Amino acid sequence: MSSGQGFANRLTQYSDTAFSLYLRRSFARSMGYSDEALGKPIVGIINTYSELNTCHRAFPELVQAVKRGVWQAGGLPLEFPTISLGEVFLHPTSMMLRNLMSMDVEVMIKAQPLDAVVLMGGCDKTVPALLMGAASAGVPAILLVAGPMLTGHYEGQRLGACTDCRRFWAMYRRGEIDETAIQRVESSLAVTAGTCAVMGTASTMACLAEALGMMLPGGASIPAVHADRLRHAEATGKQAVALIAAQLTPDKLMTRAAFANALRVLQAIGGSTNAIIHLTAIAGRLGIALELAQFDAISDTTPLIVNLKPAGSAYMEDFHRAGGMPAALQELKTLLDLDCRTVSGQTLREILDVPYSFPTWQDVIRPLHEPFKPLGAHVVLRGNLAPDGAILKRAAASPQLLRKTGRAVVFSSLQDLAARIDSPDLDVTPDDILVLQNAGPLGAPGMPEAGNFPIPARLKGVKDMIRISDARMSGTAYGTIILHVSPEAAAGGTLGLVRSGDVIEVDAAQRKLNLLVDGATLNARRAQQTPIAPPPRGYEWLFQQHIQQAHLGCDFDFLRHQELQAMG
Ligand code: FES
Repeated sequence: MSSGQGFANRLTQYSDTAFSLYLRRSFARSMGYSDEALGKPIVGIINTYSELNTCHRAFPELVQAVKRGVWQAGGLPLEFPTISLGEVFLHPTSMMLRNLMSMDVEVMIKAQPLDAVVLMGGCDKTVPALLMGAASAGVPAILLVAGPMLTGHYEGQRLGACTDCRRFWAMYRRGEIDETAIQRVESSLAVTAGTCAVMGTASTMACLAEALGMMLPGGASIPAVHADRLRHAEATGKQAVALIAAQLTPDKLMTRAAFANALRVLQAIGGSTNAIIHLTAIAGRLGIALELAQFDAISDTTPLIVNLKPAGSAYMEDFHRAGGMPAALQELKTLLDLDCRTVSGQTLREILDVPYSFPTWQDVIRPLHEPFKPLGAHVVLRGNLAPDGAILKRAAASPQLLRKTGRAVVFSSLQDLAARIDSPDLDVTPDDILVLQNAGPLGAPGMPEAGNFPIPARLKGVKDMIRISDARMSGTAYGTIILHVSPEAAAGGTLGLVRSGDVIEVDAAQRKLNLLVDGATLNARRAQQTPIAPPPRGYEWLFQQHIQQAHLGCDFDFLRHQELQAMG
């Protein structure tokens, strides 16, 4: 018996099914539950609490609320841990570990006697890893996120991690604030449990999970410390039990149409560039190939209607007060496929078919006909510098830099960047284009959030320059930053052939990104390249052997759905 319910589900193999069940029950009894409790369907609660993940600090209380809901609906809640990824506590970068966490999630869901799972995550890589793992595991699953932090204050200004972290650090580097001031800011940026307070990667992925139908309505934006988050957790636990009877597995919710909705929502909320990689990876687990071209087309037909940092000025708690995702989805209704199903058991159409009037008292969400910006947040650039594409978040860029031809100033690695960016001898002018090589999935490795690297110290007063790299950038960052250049320098991409003094052409409207150097010169440079050495062993070796490029979602090739693996 391998497909029963509850403890009869996925039995350990001893060539004697009855013995397996007897043995499992005898150990289960050690929990002290009654026969009635042990006979219920089992809802696994994946709890990514860790003392090295401060964003998940409120999970111990939240998990109790989930359990209440599961008990109320007639299930047996059993909590278990997986790898937890606290964004700022990981070396070399959390992206190096997203796929590892997704493997842990998938394997542990499939290995244990679970009828459904509640996926508890929040910090940047945890939500994509949970959704990737759950997509591959194929067991009914529902997501619960930590919720955003509340904002702090410094001298009358509101502060929220981490757009304001970067803004004040840039001011400190420019000498506009002193040591005492930056220390006070440091103490006021992250003042509660929860994920970053702006539309960074964590908030973006939470909003997109709601748009994908993997979370109960309204769950993306409830602040981490609000009592409503506990009520939402309880409802999530209840709904997890309902998913078992309906057999609502992730593939029935995260369909091609649901991903198209999510891509549209990403543009409309001014979400993180990281989400493009994560959505591609999640879809890839389900055999759905997301193309950058599709993403780009959606950008030009989707206005930006949410005014959150870093693209705008408000914080997640403001977005929540303004109605959160249910209000944003109401505004976007005519642009979405409303037949997509959700974990609530309802379609998007049924969820949105409620009395609704636009909240006119706020200026965080705008009506579709009166958006903050007429076009979506991101564009895809292509050219000989990025044959497989590069991403520019135009909503967070300086408009005067969106079309420019300039001289390249090249840094060959993160180490080279650190060594020279503030050198008084650096040959650089405000008109130049800064290029960072070897910071991609293979090159760094792990594609760190280094793409919004600092303006050289000798250009005091300059607030933005075009920066091009194969790295990512934090969803909380801003500037005219061209990222995810694919193929990356370390994989033989043209980016690795750029030399200081070359001329680069950027044209966001025309979607162009070109290195204006003749082919013969580039071929000669290519012949001089040396491939990077493989790590001697371990996870680093596995990562280097199997990591895919940014336009494919940076998943491991062997983890993608077999149909996509066959397509190469
Ligand atoms: Fe966890 Fe920003 S560091 S969400």
